[in-house]
Amino acid sequence: MPGFSIYVTRAIPESGLALLESAPDVERVEVSPHDRPLERSELERALAERDGAIVLLTDTIDDALLARAPGLRAIACYSVGTDNVDLAAAKRRGVAVTNTPDVLTDATADMTWALLLATARRVAEGDALVRAGKFPGWSPLFFLGADVSGSVLGLLGAGRIASAVLARARGFGMRVIYCSRASKPALDGAGARFVSMDALLRESDFLSIHVPLTKDTRHAIDERALSLMKPTAILVNTSRGPIVDEAALVRALSQGRIAGAGLDVFEDEPRLAPGLAELGSVVLAPHVGSATRATRSRMAVLAAEGCLFSLRGTKPRNWVEGSAWPARRMG
Ligand code: GLV
Repeated sequence: MPGFSIYVTRAIPESGLALLESAPDVERVEVSPHDRPLERSELERALAERDGAIVLLTDTIDDALLARAPGLRAIACYSVGTDNVDLAAAKRRGVAVTNTPDVLTDATADMTWALLLATARRVAEGDALVRAGKFPGWSPLFFLGADVSGSVLGLLGAGRIASAVLARARGFGMRVIYCSRASKPALDGAGARFVSMDALLRESDFLSIHVPLTKDTRHAIDERALSLMKPTAILVNTSRGPIVDEAALVRALSQGRIAGAGLDVFEDEPRLAPGLAELGSVVLAPHVGSATRATRSRMAVLAAEGCLFSLRGTKPRNWVEGSAWPARRMG
């Protein structure tokens, strides 16, 4: 039987590619030559005759695409989020899907805190002001921000990243509340209080989003949700943009119905909702939650391992529930 043919839809760190290339049962590893997301037609052509692929969160893997790649047995997402993959279609078509959990938890929690602090203390706005030569000198009422220490942190979601954000909050003496489908012993044990969605919105000084994007979480933060938040509240999103109705967020910020937002993700990346970039009360980052050298390198190894294990018919540790059980190709 010939070895596996694997496509990687954009250059990833060498650590992952080396693992694929040195595997005795891999015949061919091809990496997209383009330094951009592939067009749909390019993606279809690239995956058509492959056994496995490492894909990015910018690649939409739906039923029609899988239909054109009948030999595909493994999709390794180079991300923890798998909202770009139709998992039910993957299951039907015998494609095992993996992702990159755990290795990016700390980097993403750190970025959440970077945005939370930067928004509360107006770091980006202050940086622009100083660079523009507009710093008038210290004064008692100049450039005041929000207190972080001692305030209430609300977590939407109770997974690994929420837990890591909570661990960091303890150093700031914050009271932490959280909302998720069910209470989680790990968060309860770490001193967080499980509350309803409305209580989360009403009580949080900082509301940080850590749920995956699904049909149930799309626009979880909509006009109504924003209207329940405190006028002094700050929203932080390092999860997925479409969880927030970005147009509603721009309206709430413009009208002073909430105080600020620290955003690493956007509803229609890389575009921004009209008006967002003009607001001084937001700090905007270019979807870099996991973007540290070591993290991205570990993600590459995990994605490569996931792809290889799936193709060999062995369940990888990062197999995604809802996709097909890994099965070895016959014949
Ligand atoms: C990044 O957004 C990821 O899902 O890993």
